[in-house]
Amino acid sequence: MAGVQLLALLSLAVAASSLSMGAQATTGPDARKVGVYELKLGDFSVKVTNWGARLMSVVLPDSKGNLADVVLGRDTLAEYFNDTSYFGPIAGRVAQRISRGRFVLDGKVYHLQRNDGKNTIHGGGTAFSKSAWTVKEYVGGGDSPYITLYYRSFDGEQGFPGSLDTYVTYRVSGPYTLGVHMNATARDRATPVNLLLHAYWNLGGHGEGIGRDVLGHTLRLHASRYAVLDAELLPSSGRVAPVAGTPLDFRAPTPIGARIRQVTGGKVVGYDANYIVDGEPGSMRPVAEVRDAASGRALELWANQATVQFYTGNWLNHTEGKGGEVYNQYAGFTLETMGYVDAVNHPEFPSQTLRPGQEYKHDMVFKFSF
Ligand SMILES: *[C@@H]1O[C@H](CO)[C@@H](O)[C@H](O)[C@H]1NC(C)=O
Ligand SMILES: *[C@@H]1O[C@H](CO)[C@@H](O)[C@H](O)[C@H]1NC(C)=O
Ligand SMILES: *[C@@H]1O[C@H](CO)[C@@H](O)[C@H](O)[C@H]1NC(C)=O
Repeated sequence: MAGVQLLALLSLAVAASSLSMGAQATTGPDARKVGVYELKLGDFSVKVTNWGARLMSVVLPDSKGNLADVVLGRDTLAEYFNDTSYFGPIAGRVAQRISRGRFVLDGKVYHLQRNDGKNTIHGGGTAFSKSAWTVKEYVGGGDSPYITLYYRSFDGEQGFPGSLDTYVTYRVSGPYTLGVHMNATARDRATPVNLLLHAYWNLGGHGEGIGRDVLGHTLRLHASRYAVLDAELLPSSGRVAPVAGTPLDFRAPTPIGARIRQVTGGKVVGYDANYIVDGEPGSMRPVAEVRDAASGRALELWANQATVQFYTGNWLNHTEGKGGEVYNQYAGFTLETMGYVDAVNHPEFPSQTLRPGQEYKHDMVFKFSF
């Protein structure tokens, strides 16, 4: 145990020295403990902060060799502390929406903090995405740079039962591959768990690219079915329907903007849809491929989760971003692999209950090319 703590201290010392290189300001909640960590392999660079275990940036070349950052976010940690757009965090303990902020587990009713109208979203107001995680291990260079972050969610946090140990590892490997590996164990009581990474992508990159929205990006989703969501973006009917014949059908590569005017993500026009990923949940399988013809950049996402929420940044609206850029509607998209939305209130969906002795395991792999 002492070894682990020492390692954490050493990691923080490394972070502190990288901060003194002038990259980031550190003011705000838990500033002394919060840092920015770079994972670098050649000209591929990924930055992560332990504030909300956030993915801050991914820099890679385009087809002409120009480097750019393809993740939406902010320039400084101080700005991330104010973030209300969920730029890049791990959301939990149960991400996405929970109807009326309530559920029943083992015969007991739990009430959560409601932070999305009458409902709870992304685990409540000040959960995983707005806390300082502990840096367990950090290796910034070499063949396979990585960082492992740890968060203990306490019994009763945002209303959830029992304490939970959560780890997230971001790992870079060649060529241009980013793995995100999450696990969790319930320490004392059963609890629902459903984590997700809420990163917005624009493969055009910052600089020239972000001025363009993502409507011209081509998307392919390995999903033949979707969970029907209502106006509150809840799967109230419990229905799963085929995408065939709907504007949600991305089984063949299709520009994101081709039919976007025909869909509403809740109260605004745009995608905020939950797809059932084809194949066997629990096994790594292809989820999505996205290509931006203008830059030549593409990403391929693999994951082991049952569903993926595809969101087109419908609520971005003169939102301050990096380098003085302003993000408007459709400036980025998310591909949030996860379990079924509101599974805690839908026995017809696969259970998200994690009991002591069981392991929650969520793996994502992004393969970039250009
Ligand atoms: C954070 O928000 C507060 C309140 O709106 C504002 O005064 C402050 O300037 C913001 N900080 C940053 C770094 O944007
Ligand atoms: C979760 O991941 C961490 C970090 O990689 C690892 O140390 C731990 O053993 C994992 N937990 C389980 C239950 O596998
Ligand atoms: C964007 O902001 C403008 C001005 O505040 C507002 O009129 C418009 O409804 C907003 N659009 C969305 C999608 O929120």
